Amino acid sequence: MALLSIIIAPDPRLKIIAEPVEQVDYEIRQLMDDMLETMYNAPGIGLAGPQVGSTKRVIVLDVHKDDEAEDSESTANPIRMANPEIIGVSDYDRTHDEGCLSLPEYYAEIDRPDTIRVRYLDENNETQEIDANELLATCIQHEIDHLDGILFVDHITALKRNIILRKLTKMKKQTERKSA
Ligand code: NI
Repeated sequence: MALLSIIIAPDPRLKIIAEPVEQVDYEIRQLMDDMLETMYNAPGIGLAGPQVGSTKRVIVLDVHKDDEAEDSESTANPIRMANPEIIGVSDYDRTHDEGCLSLPEYYAEIDRPDTIRVRYLDENNETQEIDANELLATCIQHEIDHLDGILFVDHITALKRNIILRKLTKMKKQTERKSA
């Protein structure tokens, strides 16, 4: 496994529409494992291919770290998805203060359906369908957005979005200067 570097917004690589995975083979499984390692290390609860420079429709998640578990190791529940697709949504929403590893230290309250049904290919290239609710549902929708070039700040007003993106641009320039 390997740690991948996470792309920080604004960046054109975060705006791409990712391509479907033809089949989950060794290479895709490797990508999923590297993404999980990168996500846990960050730490975060979800990560999508484009955030690490992949053009594939791959996401990984583990929302159990957010639970009040005492021993997070034993409750780790990594989920690997290729070509995730939302095939049903509840007619009621939940609001979550979302963050994103590509927009470090910024958060915004976003409304999304509380419960969703998702179809995807798992790490064994088998089609799965699951019902997800609450935090897992929010997280899956946030990660699928990444596959379509959408960031959580695209759900808030342009004014708020531009403030965040300008600050991140400034932060990135400072980091580049330091490492130059
Ligand atoms: Ni994100």
